Amino acid sequence: MADIDIRRITAPDIRARKGGEPIVALTSYHAHTARLLDAHVDFILVGDSLGMVMHGLETTVPVTLDMMILQGRAVMRGSKRALVVVDLPFGSYEASKEQAFASCARVLKETHCGAVKLEGGVRMADTIRFLVERGVPVMGHVGLTPQAINTLGSFRARGRDQADWAPILADAKAVAEAGAFAMVIEAVAEPLARKITAEVKCPTIGIGASPACDGQILVLEDMLGLSPRVPRFVKRYGELAAHIEAAVKDYAREVRSREFPGSANVYPLKTRSSSS
Ligand code: KIV
Repeated sequence: MADIDIRRITAPDIRARKGGEPIVALTSYHAHTARLLDAHVDFILVGDSLGMVMHGLETTVPVTLDMMILQGRAVMRGSKRALVVVDLPFGSYEASKEQAFASCARVLKETHCGAVKLEGGVRMADTIRFLVERGVPVMGHVGLTPQAINTLGSFRARGRDQADWAPILADAKAVAEAGAFAMVIEAVAEPLARKITAEVKCPTIGIGASPACDGQILVLEDMLGLSPRVPRFVKRYGELAAHIEAAVKDYAREVRSREFPGSANVYPLKTRSSSS
């Protein structure tokens, strides 16, 4: 049977969805979850949240480019349809446009993903323009930018006071004007997210930024009920932690009582056909 040629969704496809049917996205860091998500989402983000979710780190700051590339390759192997976007981690792109390009080239060549994401607004606009002009599709990330936690001081929502809107709006406009094909808006008050979405040309992908955005993203483990603590904007669509714990408890009990492995789980001797 001939292989079915399934074309992946591209960054320009996502860009063209501005103002249309909402864009659906989730994070994934593994081949097996990527496989489950692939048919249902428009893009999969290999987010640097993997530092906190997979590795138990306090923040995303210690995440390295090698960690992102390793998990990006796994997600690419597990998916064939969704656009895969890989986060540039802290320290891999801020020093210069050249540093950013070198990191993007590694990510694109070593994972074969379709786009990268980086945090920052006005201060990153020249870098975004430089990357886009050189063939790198860039997704922006404004509002709460977790890589800046050490200067922000907390993960609290932004723009809940109208007096704080101007710099966030300027960040979003700078990212869009620099050529980003889409931007994540994280933890921003609803009216500001609505204003940004109305005023920028590229799609906005909200995480804690209201239904006014052009699309939505959540961290998979948060929405599946695997993360012990989640922000207010997360809706839990599953309670996997309880399921996993119950399964592990059953397994431990059955091993201790020698109920497992049962006859269905062992290899019997081959039956020899008699020659007489
Ligand atoms: O790293 C991540 O998971 C993200 C999402 C919060 C959008 O950037």
